Amino acid sequence: MSEKTTQQTQTAQPDADPSPTTTTGETVEQTRDEWTDYEFRGETKIAVEDLDVHYGDDHALKGVSMEIPEKSVTALIGPSGCGKSTYLRSLNRMNDRVSSARIDGSVRLDGREIYQDGVNLVELRKRVGMVFQSPNPFPKTIRENIAYGPKKHGDLETGLLARLLNRSDADERDELVERCLRDAALWDEVSDRLDDNALGLSGGQQQRLCIARCLSVDPEVILMDEPASALDPIATAKIEDLIDDLAEEYTVVIVTHNMQQAARISDQTAVFLTGGELVEYGDTDQVFENPHSERVEDYITGKFG
Ligand SMILES: Nc1ncnc2c1ncn2[C@@H]1O[C@H](COP(=O)(O)OP(=O)(O)O)[C@@H](O)[C@H]1O
Ligand SMILES: [Mg+2]
Repeated sequence: MSEKTTQQTQTAQPDADPSPTTTTGETVEQTRDEWTDYEFRGETKIAVEDLDVHYGDDHALKGVSMEIPEKSVTALIGPSGCGKSTYLRSLNRMNDRVSSARIDGSVRLDGREIYQDGVNLVELRKRVGMVFQSPNPFPKTIRENIAYGPKKHGDLETGLLARLLNRSDADERDELVERCLRDAALWDEVSDRLDDNALGLSGGQQQRLCIARCLSVDPEVILMDEPASALDPIATAKIEDLIDDLAEEYTVVIVTHNMQQAARISDQTAVFLTGGELVEYGDTDQVFENPHSERVEDYITGKFG
């Protein structure tokens, strides 16, 4: 009798089967109910729902749901291997390039599903640009690094109005180059050597050049994967200031392994833990000062990770 009864009881009362508990005895489900109740200022720019990513048999991200508000900085933190880069790459379908990757779930940009047939990936990656851990300028001049993308996309052809005003393609290009370099807080350092090879810049300058290059195709979202981790503290501080400025106009999502950095620069913080699970997401001050999840508290206070 016992076996059958147990099964029936479980079916009738799912609550009778306790979820895993945290060290304080609070169930993971209770914790989840608390933190998933977030509300942010600003419209939702990206809505992720039940996102799962597998690499072959490796389940790298498990059922991640989170809403990213526009014109703000969202930080992704967590120990190495917990799926932060995988998550970031899912937001502009860069994982499509990994042959073993399988992506399930939904990612909507301004309410439109990016994982559906017919989505133009070049267009998507213009709207959702990316900056990587190590600066990767093209081995070309500073000017060419910025002008490359718009030229490729045909955005630099002088329009009728400009031609009537006697402006050449070169004028248009130079204006764009200056605007992007100013927006990336690099103009003052390079304005007198735009035709020098970009590889001659310092690491921090190269990274700001990569940000300027990302801006040149007029993105709406900028994804950054540990953009300052290869830089010295002064270069890092410049990137952090820049991110703060960028968030006035762009939606910035940044992976960092540096918790102080996340606390300094972000409006929202998402904590991923080993196994590819989003364990808590919310207002940065709340997540750092008063996390709902015991596991997040342990991680933030350095008990593990
Ligand atoms: N291109 C890939 N091919 C196969 N496995 C990958 C690939 N990228 C990441 N993984 C695996 O997915 C998991 C999450 O990795 P990743 O997203 O890079 O984590 P993080 O950025 O948090 O360090 C790890 O187990 C990693 O080995
Ligand atoms: Mg990573």
